Amino acid sequence: MNVLHVVIRPTPGQGFREPARKRVDAQKRAAREALSLAAERQGLSVGTMPRNEHGAPQPVDGHFWSITHTSEYAGGAAAPWPLGIDIEGVREPSPEVIAEAASEAELEVVMRIFGESEAEAFSRLWSAKEALLKLTGEGLCGLSKVSLSPSSDLEHRPGLWLHHGQGEHFVHQLRHGAHFASVTCGPISHVHWDWQHAAEGAPDVAKAAKAAKR
Ligand SMILES: CC(C)(COP(=O)(O)OP(=O)(O)OC[C@H]1O[C@@H](n2cnc3c(N)ncnc32)[C@H](O)[C@@H]1OP(=O)(O)O)[C@@H](O)C(=O)NCCC(=O)NCCS
Repeated sequence: MNVLHVVIRPTPGQGFREPARKRVDAQKRAAREALSLAAERQGLSVGTMPRNEHGAPQPVDGHFWSITHTSEYAGGAAAPWPLGIDIEGVREPSPEVIAEAASEAELEVVMRIFGESEAEAFSRLWSAKEALLKLTGEGLCGLSKVSLSPSSDLEHRPGLWLHHGQGEHFVHQLRHGAHFASVTCGPISHVHWDWQHAAEGAPDVAKAAKAAKR
């Protein structure tokens, strides 16, 4: 069994008083720290984590890597095969965003399989598609090439099958509270998730500050 180690940590330095640039830098640092730990557990080295001119990760001696960062969580993973990782918080998408990223039929299937609301199903699907488009290196430019595969209905592992080009890809997923993590990597059959959770449900600092001003 090929096991992929994924490390996800709460993102530090996201206080509402911090300038946006500093917050983003902290996210990027946290993702790279999570990646270093994941690569070590995988027995791989990704050196200085080089990226190409478009910002896409480049393999080091055949060792591939992928990271993701939000204001809540930062994560990473490395493997001897191309891979993609993504984290999304549940959000209510606008009809325009839904139209661009998911069909009604896809959302209905995901809602039925997981018993989730439309917003949850959208975030799950969006996270899976982003993870796959990181594996291919296309990023969002490749969005129209990815669709939900009917194999998702038959799969018992947590995650979604996606169709892209000529192939089918299984995207492993884990949900914690209002966040979905997705990771995909060809020959991987099992994911070891090391997801340290933030104190979700604790008062959001930014919201609390806004409320105090009212
Ligand atoms: C790359 C992309 C998928 C990232 O998704 P995201 O949810 O915004 O951000 P995440 O935090 O999950 O991931 C960011 C990381 O993805 C990686 N990344 C960037 N481009 C990538 C690509 N083409 N393939 C794989 N990974 C990529 C980077 O390591 C980046 O982190 P870093 O900047 O700190 O190094 C997305 O932002 C994208 O596609 N951007 C390009 C947009 C574009 O070109 N649009 C034109 C339409 S064709």
